[in-house]
Amino acid sequence: MIPDRIAFTVAADQPGPKISRHIFGQFAEHLGRCVYEGIWVGEDSPIPNVRGLRSDVVAALRAIKVPNLRWPGGCFADAYHWRNGIGPREKRLRMRNDTWGQIETNAFGTHEFLDLCAQVGCEPVICGNLGSGTVQEMRDWVEYLNAPVGTVLANERAANGHPAPYGVRFWGVGNESWGCGGVMRPEYYADEFRRYSNFLGNYEKTRLYRIATGPAVDDYAWTEVIMRECTNPRFNGAVMDGLSLHYYMNGLTPPAKAPRLMPATKFDAADWNRVMAHGWFLDELLTRHTAIMDRHDPQRRIGLVVDEWGAWYENDPSHPANELYQQQTIRDAVLAALTLNLFIAHAERVSMANVAQVINVLHAMILTFGDKMVRTPSWHVFDLYTPHQDATRLPITGAPQMRAHEDGAYPRVSVTASRAADGSITVTLAHTDPTQPVTVELTFAGLPAVGSAKAGRMLTAPALTDINTPSDPNRVASVPWTDFSFDGAKLIATLPPACIAVMSFA
Ligand code: AHR
Repeated sequence: MIPDRIAFTVAADQPGPKISRHIFGQFAEHLGRCVYEGIWVGEDSPIPNVRGLRSDVVAALRAIKVPNLRWPGGCFADAYHWRNGIGPREKRLRMRNDTWGQIETNAFGTHEFLDLCAQVGCEPVICGNLGSGTVQEMRDWVEYLNAPVGTVLANERAANGHPAPYGVRFWGVGNESWGCGGVMRPEYYADEFRRYSNFLGNYEKTRLYRIATGPAVDDYAWTEVIMRECTNPRFNGAVMDGLSLHYYMNGLTPPAKAPRLMPATKFDAADWNRVMAHGWFLDELLTRHTAIMDRHDPQRRIGLVVDEWGAWYENDPSHPANELYQQQTIRDAVLAALTLNLFIAHAERVSMANVAQVINVLHAMILTFGDKMVRTPSWHVFDLYTPHQDATRLPITGAPQMRAHEDGAYPRVSVTASRAADGSITVTLAHTDPTQPVTVELTFAGLPAVGSAKAGRMLTAPALTDINTPSDPNRVASVPWTDFSFDGAKLIATLPPACIAVMSFA
């Protein structure tokens, strides 16, 4: 069969918005084996670690240049009391994690989290407890973290081993306050957000970036109320810096209405289409939430922060259901690439995003098996996308071949192109057709010819349902890609089914 051809033009010499590195962020919650085993093994563990944080995981996260990490939840955030997680570890309370039904030892608390961020080289994003906490508790946490030595709380931080202020910038004021975070109405939450935010201090050079709980999926009414109430000049119209959005591609929320969660690794063509269409629905969500934000914030000062996203499948039966543990296939890698492409396409408004979650939970980058660790197919996607971090998005025209399916439409090929500070150009191509190859022609308008092509890489899988395991950790992994040619300033490449490819040139 002769592959179909799809042509795009990249305006290689044009300006565009910056692609914030923060849209490649991660999320770690006290849930299942994300924090305990996935990150924290303790100083006495036979698993190699630095101050209790497992070294293999830290190295894998450094490799994909994780820009930020959100913690401690999720729903757990609105049940978490930070004082339980500081001071001598042997004295910390052992309690029930009311949110997820597990034992919480509090061994991993504020200092351990910030040590993790330092080891990974990323910025912390802390989600404070608005649901079951108090204004005083949240403002004290900020002072404990960010005030210079000289106040009671800053001195306590110093006594606990960290004299220098941590300089935490990104701050979530509650999580899913319409649901697990307190089942609030948007009008009530807007008042609470302003009240809490009013008492959160800016210390030294650290101005807090306050993120309000945003809508679930397509709750446009929530966005409307929060934007209206939290940009009102009568009540400090600059109190909100970011508005969150949560979107899980699980078939249970719009656009699809599946009767139950789907299995992660057993699927047919219809299931493939459902996940892709569900993923691409994010385009409509971002467009419509942005339109509401634009009305209230035409200068686009407030960022849309998609601080939870990812595929959410039926729990893997080999683990307790409350661990939200699932394996991963090339389907999730293609979904991740489509999603990142959408964030980049909406870079004028999307300032940050966090895939849920980083390790052992939902759409993870890493899975641990005791002392073993594997990188998931999505880890490879984040790896391939690192050149886009903080680069300039380039305009692209061309028909991506939208294909309609029962659950909605999605593009056959989705492309992102960017120009880095050093002038090099990177193109990432996500091919969503699970069975047929496609030929792509990419013309780089504005360039006389393409300079020296750096080696490309490609991620695909021997079979659609293949997974990475400790005995076969690189079954779905990126490999060098050289099977493309140039005709002047035109790249011509035939892509196999279900793949993600990247190519950079100077
Ligand atoms: O990521 C798992 C859960 O999904 C989070 O705790 C919550 O915020 C969301 O509903």
